[in-house]
Amino acid sequence: MVSDSPELAAQLDWSGQLVGKVRQEFLLPQFFFNAHMPFFSDCVQQYLTGLAEHGSLRTGLEVKVGVRSAWVVRSFANDFNPTHIHSGCQFSSVGYLKLPDWDDELAEDANDHHPCRGQIEFVTGHPQSFTRHQVRYTPRVGDFYIFPAHLLHTVYPFTSPGERRSFSINFTLEQ
Ligand SMILES: [Fe+2]
Repeated sequence: MVSDSPELAAQLDWSGQLVGKVRQEFLLPQFFFNAHMPFFSDCVQQYLTGLAEHGSLRTGLEVKVGVRSAWVVRSFANDFNPTHIHSGCQFSSVGYLKLPDWDDELAEDANDHHPCRGQIEFVTGHPQSFTRHQVRYTPRVGDFYIFPAHLLHTVYPFTSPGERRSFSINFTLEQ
C-alpha cells in the first residue's frame, strides 16, 4: 500500500497537479489499469450512446478512448475538494473504492435544509427559472461517474472517522 511506503508515496505524489485539500493524491501508472481499459472504454462509449439517445450528440459516434492521467484520492475528516474542472481531456470520471463510517452523519445531515456532507456536486450555467443548474450525489462504493471535463464540480467535507477513497481517470477521445 502506498501509504506504507514513504518513498513510493513521494514518487507517485500527484497532489501538485490537483486542487484537493486532502490527505493524499497519487498517480496511477498506466500499467496499473491497462488490463481494465476495455471496461472503462466501454463505459465511456455507453456514456456517449446515452448522450446520443437524449439528443445531445449525433448518433453513431465511435471513438477511440485514451487515458490522459489517472490517480487515487484518499481523504479523511474535514478534507474537501474546491470547485474545479479537468483540463487536457474531454471526459473525466470518479469511482468510489472506500467510504468512511458516516451513516450517522449523513442521516443527521439529511434532516438539514441543505444536505451536502460528503457529497460530490456538479454545477453548470446560471440559475434560471425551471432549470436545474446543480446536482449532488452521495457516493456509494462501486459508483462510477463519467462527466464532461469542463463541468465544474466540488466535493464537500465530512467529519466522521474513516477514509473516503476514490480514483479518477481523465479520458481523451479520438475519432
Ligand atoms: Fe475533479
